Amino acid sequence: MTNDDQETFWNTSAGPAWVFLQAQMDTLMQPVLDTLLDTAVLRPGDRVLDVGCGTGASVIEAAARVGDQGHVTGADIADTMLDLARDRLVDHPNTTLIKVDVQTHAFEPASFDAVISRFGVMFFDDTVAAFANMRTALKPNGAMTLATWASPADNPWFMEPAHAAREILGPMPKVDRTLPGPFAFEDPARIIPQLEQTGLSDVHVTTHGLPLTPRGSLKDVADLCCRIGPADSALQYFDASDNERAAVADAIALRFAQYDGPDGLRIPASIHLYECSNPA
Ligand SMILES: C[S@@+](CC[C@H](N)C(=O)[O-])C[C@H]1O[C@@H](n2cnc3c(N)ncnc32)[C@H](O)[C@@H]1O
Repeated sequence: MTNDDQETFWNTSAGPAWVFLQAQMDTLMQPVLDTLLDTAVLRPGDRVLDVGCGTGASVIEAAARVGDQGHVTGADIADTMLDLARDRLVDHPNTTLIKVDVQTHAFEPASFDAVISRFGVMFFDDTVAAFANMRTALKPNGAMTLATWASPADNPWFMEPAHAAREILGPMPKVDRTLPGPFAFEDPARIIPQLEQTGLSDVHVTTHGLPLTPRGSLKDVADLCCRIGPADSALQYFDASDNERAAVADAIALRFAQYDGPDGLRIPASIHLYECSNPA
């Protein structure tokens, strides 16, 4: 089984938007990256695989942590994302980017000390197959540390734009959140047994409340939400007019105003960190 639909999605829909918004997205999600990398405890000299590395922010920071003697391989299925990552990594010789489907790519066996991912593991058609494959790439005692979204109910970054779009445009068709998508790993009770099935050990999850830190005005952030995420999906689905788009942006700004303070917007978020290891 392959992930062709995800390759298309990240090359034609979400990818171009993410590339256009890269600087804002990285600022927004910096607290997630800090939490991920502080938990992963990468050591100088480590060889690291970054799954679904996107435009490369996590590759750059992981490479700084493992130093000149270490190496970070960023793997992603979408050229659109990797093209920008390639530009950003020219001055980072201890990094490599590969365009692969992580679910099926024949990694060199036991070649990585650690696997990390910021929001890159929730999109596999077959989670068990993908993690079994990732496990082959890990050395014995190697560790995986993976950031995923917790429940949408605890993530106003998604829910406020979704509600704002619904107010203006109407309800969207219901989606099955267990399918590939941002919330596929929201339920550890469903996911942990799947990871254990692959032979990974000590699978556990910690849930972290942290702020997302978008930059710019409320209007800037509302405009960003009209380009990516649930409001963008609704605008596309309803083929919204310019007036409707402006109304959705206003409604998002109104909803996000409650999170605006002296330090700018701090939108509460809830993420899971899945941690597990390859047995010795
Ligand atoms: C939400 S983005 C996260 C990007 C990046 N990790 C970040 O935090 O900025 C998810 C990424 O996973 C990649 N992806 C999805 N399915 C994949 C697969 N089967 N193999 C490799 N990458 C995949 C997408 O192309 C996309 O770049």
